[in-house]
Amino acid sequence: MRNLHGEHTMKAVGVTPSQREVGILDHSTPELQQDDEVIIRTLDVGICGTDREICTFVYGDPPAGSDYLVLGHEAMGEVIEVGAAVQNLKAGDFVVPSVRRPCTDENCLPCKQGLQDFCSNGNYVERGIKECHGFMTESFVERERFLTYIPPDLKDLAVLMEPLTIAEKGLAQAWATQKRLPWVRHYENGKPTGKGLNAVVLGAGPIGILGAMTMRAAGFETYVYNRSPAPNPKAEIVEAIGAKYISSKDVAVSDLPGEVGSIDLVYEAVGISSVAFDVLGVLGVNGVYIFTGIPAPGDPIQVDADQLMRNIVLGNQSVIGTVNADDASFKAAIRDLAYFRKHWPEAIDAVITRRYSIESCRELLLERATGIKNVISFE
Ligand code: BGC
Ligand code: ZN
Repeated sequence: MRNLHGEHTMKAVGVTPSQREVGILDHSTPELQQDDEVIIRTLDVGICGTDREICTFVYGDPPAGSDYLVLGHEAMGEVIEVGAAVQNLKAGDFVVPSVRRPCTDENCLPCKQGLQDFCSNGNYVERGIKECHGFMTESFVERERFLTYIPPDLKDLAVLMEPLTIAEKGLAQAWATQKRLPWVRHYENGKPTGKGLNAVVLGAGPIGILGAMTMRAAGFETYVYNRSPAPNPKAEIVEAIGAKYISSKDVAVSDLPGEVGSIDLVYEAVGISSVAFDVLGVLGVNGVYIFTGIPAPGDPIQVDADQLMRNIVLGNQSVIGTVNADDASFKAAIRDLAYFRKHWPEAIDAVITRRYSIESCRELLLERATGIKNVISFE
């Protein structure tokens, strides 16, 4: 296809905030512009809460000069062409792109070191989210350094990599924080281990379930606290990985420590501040609480701040926010995906609810969320 300017175009899923529109649009087919770039044929793109939120126009922005934003930040594709300076990728390889691109400020030390997930000034861009087009298109171009090679046998699961990196970075942050407890010698084979520690994962969406798998693989006794009563398909996955599913309909937040014991780690993946702060109130002594949810702005809520502050101080607790992920988290996600496939093949397969064609984009983005991870497949 060609557009009015004679450029080749392809189908993409995008939002046009000024028109409050969501759907398929024509987007120019990208070409190599620099020697270190790679052209990728898109195979799978996951849909997540962030995409759905962008479609309500409270989050996300088109690139400068464009009235629309191509969505999609959880992608997997096949390399079809590489620039002259590309070193480690070739046509036929499978890759997963990361999401965030560094700012250009010389004074932003994290971005200068390739740790744009910690960008210090907010001038980063994110593909498919903030001022940069995403991957919900037939093909895209990316620089080699923002791509992770995927072993072919993980191809079918690789669309789960990006949401899994959120858990990997979260866990790395938890280990970094708990280095403050020198008497805790939770090391096995040179790696930290959660053996003997209790983790509570809040929420059983894709971020929660992948988080629970990550914590379980790291050795934690893992509990997933979620609203829906069991039995349900999410509870089945949780039980299949040797974690315990607890419904808030059966166990009140205040009774969680009675079920779990001392809560050493909370991995928040629910995005609802009232629930998240309630559970912060039952974090154990010396515990660490990892926030990952990004709630839409809402009315102020009431929290028992005196009690929370007393607990945090008297219990030496750490509360950490984490966003996006670095290269190390992508590498860890590959190792963990392989582990999940080996140990829990059916459970990890069940995280991908269904693959749809691009024509289903509006129902997937705008109607009630169903299943766990829905994917748009371009094959
Ligand atoms: C993405 C992250 C991103 C964050 C904030 C999440 O859905 O997975 O990569 O940094 O949204 O925009
Ligand atoms: Zn996402």
